[in-house]
Amino acid sequence: MKKKNLSVIVDVYESRTELSPENNELIEKAINAGRNAYAPYSGFHVGAAVLLENGEIITGSNQENAAYPSGLCAERVAVFYAKAKYPEVAIRQLAVVAIKDGVVVETPASPCGACRQVLIEYEDQQGSPLSVILAGKEQTIVIPSSSDLLPLSFGSKELE
Ligand code: THU
Repeated sequence: MKKKNLSVIVDVYESRTELSPENNELIEKAINAGRNAYAPYSGFHVGAAVLLENGEIITGSNQENAAYPSGLCAERVAVFYAKAKYPEVAIRQLAVVAIKDGVVVETPASPCGACRQVLIEYEDQQGSPLSVILAGKEQTIVIPSSSDLLPLSFGSKELE
């Protein structure tokens, strides 16, 4: 038996001013998208913005339902819409922001397990990194690759 280290290195920014204008733009789009969330049950409004290889930015917000599991997270709303519109275009980056009581939350929200699974599927398929930006009120965490979010993941290779 041997031990295997599955560590991940992420970039942590303590202020938005440290980020590139492109990253700030993506975060702003995610915040605006989050304001359109339909989240009457949790009150947790999430916005996501996806930057495509062709330069287009596509946004999404969480959509809840009285039958709770029928709702969908902001990340998957944005990513599925992007891939439905441009199946051949790679996704470069995804920014995620959570809003509570009208304000961006202090601690950056992180995608749920199902969203992580969806992200690594597209990252594997496109063969290039899909990086994830988790933005809090001040602190922002940049994860270089979606695979960093889900070590030992299940994917298409297991089905071969
Ligand atoms: N949610 C997201 O949209 N993205 C996340 O990363 C975490 C959770 C949504 C799902 C649900 O509508 C609400 O936030 C509370 O879980």
